[in-house]
Amino acid sequence: MDKRLIVALDFPDAGQALKFAAHLPVQQCRLKVGFELFVSAGPGLVEKLVGLGFDVFLDLKFHDIPNTVAAACRSASQLGVWMINVHAMGGQAMLTAAVDAVGSLEKPPLLIAVTVLTSMDKLQLKGVGVDAEPREQVLMLAQQVAQCGLDGVVCSAQEAALLKQEMGQEFKLVTPGIRPSNSDISDQKRVMTPKDAILAGANYLVVGRPITTAKDSLAVIESINQDISSAALSMSGCFESD
Ligand code: C5P
Repeated sequence: MDKRLIVALDFPDAGQALKFAAHLPVQQCRLKVGFELFVSAGPGLVEKLVGLGFDVFLDLKFHDIPNTVAAACRSASQLGVWMINVHAMGGQAMLTAAVDAVGSLEKPPLLIAVTVLTSMDKLQLKGVGVDAEPREQVLMLAQQVAQCGLDGVVCSAQEAALLKQEMGQEFKLVTPGIRPSNSDISDQKRVMTPKDAILAGANYLVVGRPITTAKDSLAVIESINQDISSAALSMSGCFESD
């Protein structure tokens, strides 16, 4: 099965994360480990998840000088993870250093970049000196990310159609802010259903609380995967497996 669902393992400690992950079907989803869990549980937890057979997206959004980011990317890759990320705003020298660092490895992870955080709107961008529409800024950064040789970006599903059209099929789009139609949107603002996100061109969907807080997490995973499959099928020619 083409696993396009990434479950955000947003738990405060290793015990809770492992207890939850132990019940998840390795064949039906990948996992994302972010700051909260990594800071508390460390690299050992990541290696355990990889050992259980999961593809792990280590979401640490590196943003520092090129040499430091390159070293961090190498260290992250040594954990055996499937995907890592950096901030596109780190600039082209930093992006290139990250690409070179993972490119020299025997089994490199996918390397993607965060463009504009989905929590930032036009006003907030202006506040940090960027006088552009978020969509324009996302596209400009995505173009730089592609030029530097990364595999794709994290973006809002609402930008996916534009990016797919401008960046082509090979460029991976990883989209958080996904909510099945019957679920609570919580603190997310610009949400999209799994089906619409796939139709817009997203390659991978990051879903956290609708799965982690559900009474029956496996049923939610199954239902999201069904939505993904039917949307992908309806796109037929455009659908691409990784
Ligand atoms: O629980 P929920 O589905 O909202 O979780 C979404 C996950 O995606 C969280 O781990 C969050 O940190 C992450 N994320 C996001 N928006 C971004 C980047 C990452 O929601 N722009």
